[in-house]
Amino acid sequence: MDRAVELLFYVNGRKVIEKNVDPETMLLPYLRKKLRLTGTKYGCGTGGCGACTVMISRYNPTIKRISHHAANACLIPICSLYGAAVTTIEGIGSTKTRIHPVQERIAKCHGTQCGFCTPGMVMSIYTLLRNHPEPSLEQLTDALGGNLCRCTGYRPIIDACKTFCKTSGCCQSRENGVCYLDQEINELPELEEVNKISLKLFSEEEFLPLDPTQELIFPPELMIMAEKQPQRTRIFGGDRMTWISPTTLTALLEAKFKYPQAPVVMGNTSVGPEMKLKGVFHPVIISPDGIEELNFANCSHNELTLGAGLSLTQVKYILGEVIQNLPEEKTRMYRALLKHLRTLAGSQIRNMASLGGHIVSRHLDSDLNPLLAVGNCTLNLLSKKGKRQVPLNEEFLRRSPSADLKPEEILISVKIPHSRKWEFVSGFRQAQRQQNALAVVNSGMRVFFGEGGDIIRELSISYGGVGPTTVCAKNSCRKLIGRPWNEEMLDVACRLVLDEVTLPGSAPGGRVEFKRTLIVSFLFKFYLEVLQILKRMDPVRSPGLADKYESALEDLHSGHHCSTLKYENVDSKNLPQDPIGQPIMHLSGIKHATGEAIYCDDMPTVDQELFLSFVTSSRAHAKIVSIDLSEALSLPGVVDIVTEEHLRGVNSFCILSEPEKLLRTEEVSCVGQLVCAVIAESEVQAKQAAKRVKVVYQDLQPLILTIEEAIQHNSFFEPERKLEYGNVDEAFKVVDHILEGEIHIGGQEHFYMETQSMLVVPKGEDQEIDVYVSTQFPKYIQDIVASTLKLPANKVMCHVKRVGGAFGGKTYKTGIMAAITAFAANKHGRAVRCILERGEDMLITGGRHPYLGKYKAGFMNDGRILALDMQHYSNGGASLDESLLVIEMGLLKMENAYKFPNLRCRAWACRTNLPSNTALRGFGFPQAGLITESCITEVAARCGLAPEKVRMINMYKEIDQTPYKQEINAKNLIQCWKECMDMSSYSLRKAAVEKFNSENYWKKKGLAVVPLKFPVGLGSVAAGQVVSHELRMPISNIHLRGTSTETVPNTNISGGSVVADLNGLAVKDACQTLLKRLEPIISKNPQGTWKDWAQAAFDESISLSATGYFRGYESNMSWETGEGHPFEYFVYGAACSEVEIDCLTGAHKNIRTDVVMDVGCSINPALDIGQIEGAFIQGMGLYTIEELHYSPQGVLYTRGPNQYKIPAICDIPTELHISLLPPSQSSNTLYSSKGLGESGIFLGCSMFFAIHDAVNAARQERGLFGPLKLNSPLTPEKIRMACEDKFTKMIPKDKPGSYVPWNVPI
Ligand SMILES: Cc1cc2nc3c(=O)[nH]c(=O)nc-3n(C[C@H](O)[C@H](O)[C@H](O)COP(=O)(O)OP(=O)(O)OC[C@H]3O[C@@H](n4cnc5c(N)ncnc54)[C@H](O)[C@@H]3O)c2cc1C
Ligand code: FES
Ligand code: FES
Repeated sequence: MDRAVELLFYVNGRKVIEKNVDPETMLLPYLRKKLRLTGTKYGCGTGGCGACTVMISRYNPTIKRISHHAANACLIPICSLYGAAVTTIEGIGSTKTRIHPVQERIAKCHGTQCGFCTPGMVMSIYTLLRNHPEPSLEQLTDALGGNLCRCTGYRPIIDACKTFCKTSGCCQSRENGVCYLDQEINELPELEEVNKISLKLFSEEEFLPLDPTQELIFPPELMIMAEKQPQRTRIFGGDRMTWISPTTLTALLEAKFKYPQAPVVMGNTSVGPEMKLKGVFHPVIISPDGIEELNFANCSHNELTLGAGLSLTQVKYILGEVIQNLPEEKTRMYRALLKHLRTLAGSQIRNMASLGGHIVSRHLDSDLNPLLAVGNCTLNLLSKKGKRQVPLNEEFLRRSPSADLKPEEILISVKIPHSRKWEFVSGFRQAQRQQNALAVVNSGMRVFFGEGGDIIRELSISYGGVGPTTVCAKNSCRKLIGRPWNEEMLDVACRLVLDEVTLPGSAPGGRVEFKRTLIVSFLFKFYLEVLQILKRMDPVRSPGLADKYESALEDLHSGHHCSTLKYENVDSKNLPQDPIGQPIMHLSGIKHATGEAIYCDDMPTVDQELFLSFVTSSRAHAKIVSIDLSEALSLPGVVDIVTEEHLRGVNSFCILSEPEKLLRTEEVSCVGQLVCAVIAESEVQAKQAAKRVKVVYQDLQPLILTIEEAIQHNSFFEPERKLEYGNVDEAFKVVDHILEGEIHIGGQEHFYMETQSMLVVPKGEDQEIDVYVSTQFPKYIQDIVASTLKLPANKVMCHVKRVGGAFGGKTYKTGIMAAITAFAANKHGRAVRCILERGEDMLITGGRHPYLGKYKAGFMNDGRILALDMQHYSNGGASLDESLLVIEMGLLKMENAYKFPNLRCRAWACRTNLPSNTALRGFGFPQAGLITESCITEVAARCGLAPEKVRMINMYKEIDQTPYKQEINAKNLIQCWKECMDMSSYSLRKAAVEKFNSENYWKKKGLAVVPLKFPVGLGSVAAGQVVSHELRMPISNIHLRGTSTETVPNTNISGGSVVADLNGLAVKDACQTLLKRLEPIISKNPQGTWKDWAQAAFDESISLSATGYFRGYESNMSWETGEGHPFEYFVYGAACSEVEIDCLTGAHKNIRTDVVMDVGCSINPALDIGQIEGAFIQGMGLYTIEELHYSPQGVLYTRGPNQYKIPAICDIPTELHISLLPPSQSSNTLYSSKGLGESGIFLGCSMFFAIHDAVNAARQERGLFGPLKLNSPLTPEKIRMACEDKFTKMIPKDKPGSYVPWNVPI
């Protein structure tokens, strides 16, 4: 073997030569830190978010072809890049040269908000276009399946990409071939209205054309190298790891013989995350490169043989081809594999991951292994000692020594037999999210009957997700041989399988009853599927199944994404250059799309910079007995460890009303609390040392995690809050009925794409210190840092260039971390950077409060609710943070759009041993509103009325009074509601849903509409537009810089939907000051330009700088009297959603959503619509997908995108229609606009109630008429378990208390 001297690859057309490469380095940090290409972002480091997407191109000298694929830089070891060309966002275009059409379109179509996900999105699309210049919509959504965005709701991104498709304008979704956009149902404007109404937010005419000849060429040097260079093994040696890249099969076998324990790294998508998350270390890695014997496909008469080195994308492509070319009956296994490959991970992971890696890693949730295991597949193995074949069966999957690979063996290929005539194969899976999510349970099933019969000759069934690896139900299958394929067999089969594939109540991953139900539900689906085919093959002999039951086999509704947007044009009296009311793109949009936008961690390293890594508590309630820093301190590069001792006297800061400790050394009250902070020369050193700090704990009692436990222990934060109106007790005496109920609403993680980031730089003079931080509240950071450093605040400058998403999560915890980082920087006189990894961020920072809502409602037969008595309990976590404000806002907004004449609502924030929960978009309202809507839904059910009727009858009517006695004019609320009912053709569609439900037993549809009233004012800036409007200056003249406490010393927090109002009105104020000063100059030269006037101002010594201030709206609220004027105005809206559910698996699909919002006079309709959609999708995530899991010891399991699912592109409604009410005047707000940031979250609950409706339909058909209690989020697990049937009844149930569950619902 030759020791390679250097690693050579290209990045953006530039040659990179690394002489001393460290094999532990991944491409992402290499690009960001070494090459200073910071456009590629870190979002998770584990392949789950797509923020780090780059394009990898390689030349294959055998077929003389260049291939391009998108990949996640965070999982690519740089040693694997020898001879490859990497293209990053910087390589495709920039504002300095020319921007690429993908960059231009994503920005101009408003596909960026915080912009952090944008480079990854652009690279995914760019790579797609390199391979398919005119992609189909399916290719497009497939390409974006591995990219997450937390802000936009994806619709504008899809719109931007659609402009590259041949069929961009049409939805392609109507069965009758009529485009949705042409249908009456949409109420397109009448002709005379056409000039007023706008349906577009961008104009395609101005887009640059896509010109493939303009792209970077593949470096000729790499082609020559690939053609000419002798094939030699390359070895790269680092401090701890050696990387061996054999380029021939012989060399590979040699290497594996020499280092049998070394993993064979192909895509690194299994080994990489294991090393990162589980700390597994491999001193030697073998990574084959370009070995033909591993990269082939051969389809013979009886079988398909696939090379182990093929990527899953290549396998997908090959299977597609094979299916085209073989008769259907031979392809059943291939079809089943292909179906799973469509949803397995995102496209980047499929491009990287190899078939061999997938099979050999034998993950418990592998999608392909259960199928391959039932398919009589064979693994072709090779070592220096020779060839061997082993069956891919249960023994292999269990790693039984007699059936496993020997350490020195390599998997060369997999032989998959074609299916036979009377053989049927299917795969099933159900995950938390339909795509890019590991399955909760998956399965492969195969049956063979022999010619013409229905007697089982062979049967194989295997499951994933139900044990430590794929499990085969071998005994059950054996017992079923010889039975005919009928109901009786099914019944026996279900019982046998449940007996054989057992899951203890405490099984890892939880959801045990759901998993058990899926085991038999999948079997039932297979039974029906086969029955249907048998019937088709022999209609006389096979009984077949009733039409109604066929729905079990159909896929959930699918269709191409289609959207319409409607808003009214600005008054034509406005000057043409005036941007107010125009859909102007985000001022940084282009920079987001080119990767030039600088976020905190993109800032260059400061001379002598250090890195800080936190040590966090691993116990939820414990005394710290001792902390041993000695080993950590002795490690190379470690400079210091900051503990509470250093912070003596400054270790606490008063956040709102309760002081909060910065570091703990005596007692911890939740997992993830900051114990100390390691400061080292590099990030790697700091992190390694942090792991070596030894903390000894002694557990304390009680351990309170859930709301119920808090109630039991009377563990609350003070004070309790109460709102009362009318006379509830008297009203209960006169009502026709009374009901009592409760609902539990799970928490939510912010999942901003940019994790908590800060860099603190001591200036070396007068104790001044610069804090660069990603925060919503610079003034607060300034205060806490000043207090910790015992400095006057004017010595601390806090700079915020931009924030990669925050949603309420970058205030108080950010402040604590910034204070500790600043302390370290100040102590050592050196810059200190602290960037949290995704897992740390999720562990430390908390999120939305889980809620328990209890209600008692008194109502009349016609649905009028006359009395409502409610209790809200929120899980506040270990410290107060913003919990009090959250419950207050929950109370003040709990009545949503309804007038309850007699109302009493009390609220408590529970003190528990969880990380403190904090502000998250919507601030208590999404939870409080859902409780109220659930109560209304139940009232409707009790009255036998449609929920929308009961909603309407209880809604505010015109001028009214809120429970805190503030006046409200609900005219626009009613208008939104009516328009939403009309726009969604509610009654027509309701009838259609009922018809569908009566014809389909196993699939149900549901439809729901909810109103919204969202008060704003207790206190998405379009600042550029305000300046332009006020100074009558073209928007192109305006440049916005980040904020800092130096320029704006006294800012309020940017949150709570009031950003536009506060900052916008302040900007307006400043502009007016300037104009007043310049008036004499302008009137002397009215035809002049701003340049002339600025020169004249200079000549006449008139200052051209001004600050403006807006102190916020007057507000007051007395909790003693329960009265006040806490809000300035109300945002109104309504949303209607339609879903389809699969009663057997719990899967759901959002078919269509219509939203109508009253935004006053929109300053920027693109921004407003973007806020509405983004919030809606976040709300949809909250109520239907996102689920946090905690262990019974209070440890958060869900610490990254692979465990915690936020909505992805597959989750957005197939049809989305958004309409803004015509502009209406509102007295005090900025140009009569309304703050919209938060309200849309709640509208996501239209999905919750649509699912509720569908589940209800299923239950009624099954004769279950009792009250339906569904908690949030309505995940596949809850949907499946609520659709009770013989399978849910069949499964074994564990007695509560007889086992320790894997997780506790908090
Ligand atoms: C974000 C993300 C999402 C995912 N989603 C899904 C999903 O939805 N469904 C699903 O099923 N899986 C999913 N996976 C898992 C993924 O399918 C596997 O990680 C992948 O297939 C492993 O392939 P690899 O080439 O990257 O393996 P590597 O990490 O390179 O190697 C894995 C193991 O295989 C061994 N190995 C590899 N090739 C050979 C060979 N030829 N001979 C002998 N040993 C070999 C190595 O020694 C190593 O131990 C996901 C993974 C990630 C990171
Ligand atoms: S950072 Fe690479 S996928 Fe998230
Ligand atoms: S714009 Fe996509 S994450 Fe913010």
